[in-house]
Amino acid sequence: MKENMVVDNNKKDKKTVALTGDRPTGPLHLGHYVGSLANRLVLQESYTQYVMIADVQALTDYYENPEKVRENVLQVACDYLAVGIDPLKTTIFIQSCIPQIAELTVFYLNLVTVNRLKRNPTVKNEIVQRGYKENLTAGFLCYPVSQAADITFIKAQVIPVGEDQLPMIEQTNEIVRSFNRIYGAEVFVEAEALVAKIARLPGTDGSAKMGKSLGNAIFLSDPTDVVVKKVMSMYTDPLHLKVADPGKVEGNTVFMYLDIFDKNQEEVSQLKEHYRRGGLGDVVLKKRLIEVLEQFLTPLREKRTLLMNDKEQVMRILKDGTQKTEEEAEKTMQEVRSVMKLDYFK
Ligand code: TRP
Repeated sequence: MKENMVVDNNKKDKKTVALTGDRPTGPLHLGHYVGSLANRLVLQESYTQYVMIADVQALTDYYENPEKVRENVLQVACDYLAVGIDPLKTTIFIQSCIPQIAELTVFYLNLVTVNRLKRNPTVKNEIVQRGYKENLTAGFLCYPVSQAADITFIKAQVIPVGEDQLPMIEQTNEIVRSFNRIYGAEVFVEAEALVAKIARLPGTDGSAKMGKSLGNAIFLSDPTDVVVKKVMSMYTDPLHLKVADPGKVEGNTVFMYLDIFDKNQEEVSQLKEHYRRGGLGDVVLKKRLIEVLEQFLTPLREKRTLLMNDKEQVMRILKDGTQKTEEEAEKTMQEVRSVMKLDYFK
């Protein structure tokens, strides 16, 4: 992938905690890589990084399918390790195994109004997408509060996320300010979102966002034949009917992917010129993209296969990371219980 895609801030300090997470609702795709995973590879070098597998948040959608969430915890962990998230540099943990997050969520619920939750633009969108109406659960509406607990229980200050998560960080910081003001102590610090320069990879159908549920994703774990099929059916320029016709580069998904993943940008510029002029067919471009993606995905697939064949090792990494995280969580909660006058038996 193209270098230089990360917007870093100047807090760089091994004492600063960076935290991010993913819902284990399916394997991770190229959109995750571009928007978030690539950032984490850089951040693990300069921060104390935690990465959370957000199974509790996944259950706000999938509470009726716990086996699906369970299965995907392992898939997501394998994706992390395959792309190069290094358990020696990054602590990977499972959300549900940190009961302090649930405890903190309950306290935070008092600090947020229902009206405020209903105004969260990301949640609003998701409610429409999922068709929740009268059946909208309190758990789903309140997940940004739980996410505020995810971010603060470990006192994370740097949150590398996609643009759609900005409302969650805003909500978190409002809670942080309320908490510190009401309980009269600077227990928490505000968090800062780090958004990648290339925050969003379009779906293979040309729509703005790649999403598992949108059916337009290329997964990091897709085998070659599936990648070939997905690229060959990718959205290009619907008016570019004959090879000889001039074609449009803007909004052409294949070019958008080449812009991000092709190491030879000079050749990509030449291809764009040729395409605009006419005489360059979509198939030639798509074949190039397949080659570029295969170069990127082949080593990931190999590493992933090894990991899937040694699930005990993956589970051990998760267990160690979770244990370490819980110790940190308990430290924060002792402060919280103390300022909230809940430390009865200290
Ligand atoms: N909401 C995030 C997503 O859907 C996942 C997530 C849960 C998260 N908790 C988090 C991200 C804390 C950053 C920080 O992608």
